[in-house]
Parts: sequence; C-alpha cells; structure tokens
Amino acid sequence: MTTHALSDPEYVVVTESLVRMAGLVFDVSRRGAISAILHERMSKSGHTSTGSYLAHVESAQGAEERQRLLDAVTIQETHFFRNLPQIDALRRDVLPDLLRRSRRTGRQLTIWSAGCSTGEEPYTLAMLLVQLFEETGPFPVRIIGTDVSAAALDVARAGVYSGRTIQLAEPGAVERWFDARSDGSYSVAQPVRDLVEFRLQNLVTDEPPFDTGEVDLVVCRNVTIYFGRETTARLVRGFHRLLTVGGYLLLGHAETLWQISGDFSLLPVGEAFVYRKDVVPQNGRRLSVGLPAAPPPAAPQPRRVMRDVLRVPSLRPRRVPTPTPTPAPPARPVAPPVASPLQDLTKARDALNAGSYAEAASLAERATAAHPLLVEGYIIEGRALSNQGDDDGAIAALRKAVFLDPTAAHAHFLLATTLARVGDPGGAALSFASAAETLPQASSETLSELLDGRAVSDLVDLCRQLAVSLQSDPEPVVGASAASHDDGRRR
Ligand SMILES: C[S@@+](CC[C@H](N)C(=O)[O-])C[C@H]1O[C@@H](n2cnc3c(N)ncnc32)[C@H](O)[C@@H]1O
Repeated sequence: MTTHALSDPEYVVVTESLVRMAGLVFDVSRRGAISAILHERMSKSGHTSTGSYLAHVESAQGAEERQRLLDAVTIQETHFFRNLPQIDALRRDVLPDLLRRSRRTGRQLTIWSAGCSTGEEPYTLAMLLVQLFEETGPFPVRIIGTDVSAAALDVARAGVYSGRTIQLAEPGAVERWFDARSDGSYSVAQPVRDLVEFRLQNLVTDEPPFDTGEVDLVVCRNVTIYFGRETTARLVRGFHRLLTVGGYLLLGHAETLWQISGDFSLLPVGEAFVYRKDVVPQNGRRLSVGLPAAPPPAAPQPRRVMRDVLRVPSLRPRRVPTPTPTPAPPARPVAPPVASPLQDLTKARDALNAGSYAEAASLAERATAAHPLLVEGYIIEGRALSNQGDDDGAIAALRKAVFLDPTAAHAHFLLATTLARVGDPGGAALSFASAAETLPQASSETLSELLDGRAVSDLVDLCRQLAVSLQSDPEPVVGASAASHDDGRRR
C-alpha cells in the first residue's frame, strides 16, 4: 500500500480516536508521521478503510491491534538522570523527606513513575534510593513504572541499555549502577532492579494500580505535554486522590498545573519545582520573584562579605561545636510516639530553648509532617538544624517557612544568615531584604529573640545594608544557576 497523507476529514477522525484511546492530541504538524503509521498498521491488519480500522481498534476485539497502534504513535524519548535540577531536588530533599516520614510511620514507601517509557526514569529513582540507603540503611520501597506502550515496557523489563541514554547518565553512574555486557551494552544492576516493577496501564482509560492515599510520590514527567487540558486536569485530580497528605507530584520541567489544578502547593526545591499535596492547598500564594538559588554542592570558603556577616555576633546562629571529623550531621533521636502536632511543637520549642537541638529538630519535623502548614514548626526545625551545623537542612526548613508565610521575619532573617554562611550571597541578599521589610511588623516574641537589646530600627538598617552589600558583591556565586539547556544540564 502506498503511503499518502490522510485527508483533512480522515485526519480529524483519526486524531479524535487517539484522544479517546489514550488522551493523545496530535496537531497538523504530525499529520505526515501519523498517516505513515496508520497506513502501515492498516496494511498489516488487513484493513482498507480508515473507518473500519478505527472501529476495530476501538472495539473490545481490537485490543491487540490497539496496542500495536499505541506502541507506534507514542513517543518514548527518555534517558537516565533526566533533568539534573529535578534529580538534585529528588536526591537532596524529596526522597530524604519521604524516607524520614516512612521510617517514622513504618509504612512502605510507594513511588509511581507514570508514563515511564523504557524504564530509565524508575530505575534512576531506584538508583537515588539505593544511594540514600547507604547512609540511612535499607527501607521497604516499591517503585511502580507504568506506561501505555507494551513495547516500551518490554525494554524496561529487560533493563539492558546502550547508546545515548547511557551516555546522558550522570558522571560515574555507569560504573556504579550497571553491569557491562560483552556486546557493549549495559545491564541495570540487580539491587536497582529489585526495587522496580513495571505494569501496562493507560493513564486515561485504565484504573490506576493504587488505592486512595497510598502513593508518596508521583513522577509524571513529559507525559501531559501530549494531552489536552481536560485530560490533564482529570489525571491530576486522580494523582491528588492517590497521594498521601504531604506526598509529592513531580511533572516535567516544562509542565505546570497553572490553570489546571489548584489542589497542590508549589514548592521551589533548589533549581526545580515540585508540587505537594497539603491538608489545605497553598495555591495563590505569591512566590517571590528570583527564588533563592539551590545551595551549592559543597560549601565554599566564606568570602569577604560573608565573613562580615558572620562577625556580627548576635547575627550568628549559635552552633554546638561539631566534633571533627564527623561528615554527617548527628543522628536525630526518635521522638516518642503519639502526640498532637501542637504538643510536639510546644515540646520542640522547649527543647530548642534548652539547647537540645537534635530533639527539637525531630519533634518539629514530626509536627510539620502531621500538620504541614505549621510555620513555626519549620522555623524551630531550621533553628535547631542550624545550631547542629546542618545548614542544608536548615535552609530547606526555613524556605518552607517563608513560602508558607512570607511575613515570617524570623525565618527570613535566619535563612539570610544561613545562606550567607554557605556562600549564596544572592539568596542571602534577597532574604535580608525580606527580613528588613517584615521585621517592623514582627511579634514582640520574635523581636525579643532577635534584637538582643538593640532597637528594631538598628536591625532593619543592618539587614538593608547587608542586602545591598551582598547584592553588589561582584564575585560570581558558586552553585548559582548557569545557562542550561532543555534538560537543565550545565554548559
Ligand atoms: C516522552 S516519554 C516520557 C518518559 C519519562 N517520563 C521521562 O520523562 O523521561 C512519554 C511516555 O508517556 C507514555 N504515554 C503517553 N500516553 C500515555 C497514556 N495515555 N497512558 C500511559 N502512558 C502514556 C508514552 O508511551 C511514553 O512512554
């Protein structure tokens, strides 16, 4: 059969059928490719008219041919460690947070890679987790990869890769996570495979393989770009139902829930964004322009202005001397079970005042896990972690506080000093400016903790000066975002 482009009416009928079968929307730019696929499938299945072919694939008897058509029209583009800012957000914040919570509740962690294509995405998630387990010890986890393409899932289950997808993995990943084969391809290592399962599932027409509230993280990247708005909105409502409170949704870097769903809170995590299911959605809250940059991978030497900040004695968060050489922050004691978030918060406050920082951090974390909108919980956690020398943990907690309450002067101030200390002058400048703006309205309790006998106007002036001097510091910021291409790889 010679391939000719589908006529206008034929193309309309075909694309409407693809929307019904899998939510896939194809515009005219894909007419050539879709025509070629359709003619090939019609020829192989013995159909001579588009109408009879579509009637067949949409019928119950046409399930096998429908699968072949969907295998052919779907786009399986993917690779290992895709989009490094998102991988960093998963590695540094999202997965450790979920793991901490699961350990506390004793509940298995459930992760769904929805639209997983040939398996690179769920295997990457498993690699991040196996790496995390090296620090924390193992924990029951299941990662379910689903896709509508049976052909893609065959590749995923085989777990053998070569070429571009391997070349694009992060440095060192190949040696670490794959076994080299004699034909030059690479097989995913068994401990990684053990965490991952694959299932055929159509996100648009099939029931998801989970119960309500069962999923901790949904990763659905570069899938809704093929769907219409209504389909995406319906899918996202389903994700929301399946996610546990505090669970995360990660979309592709170019996908957004803007004007699709108001059910999630949008959180900046380093250079990426993640959505989170909260008790009450925080949508509509203003995100500050110029979000703080991700903390640099290793704290550089404090520079001139940093040292000035650190020299102001009352600005420097108290630190418990950290025994050397201890690479990881001290393990937090497990807080005793069963207490309301507010009781935990009170105890966390007391522990902080008593200098029991590990206990304060653990209690505050438990309070916010149970009640994710407890701003004071994040502030206490931030202060406690900062006092323990865990700057990254403190920054993560304090960012949550200022996201939830942009008027939280104490959090802005602590975030500013911590960012200054870890060598992020741009982020510190923004936070000092926010502290200067919000301090005059701060509660007397906050002020008494921060002022140390000085007038509020002095502290406001100091914050303003620091904001200006940090902002105008000509040295480049280590770890700040550089020009990046589509997948966030640094050039
Ligand atoms: C571009 S790939 C994305 C793979 C991976 N998530 C990533 O970002 O690297 C899109 C995947 O979505 C799958 N897909 C498209 N429509 C789907 C549907 N209705 N149900 C399930 N998967 C679908 C395709 O088969 C394809 O494997």
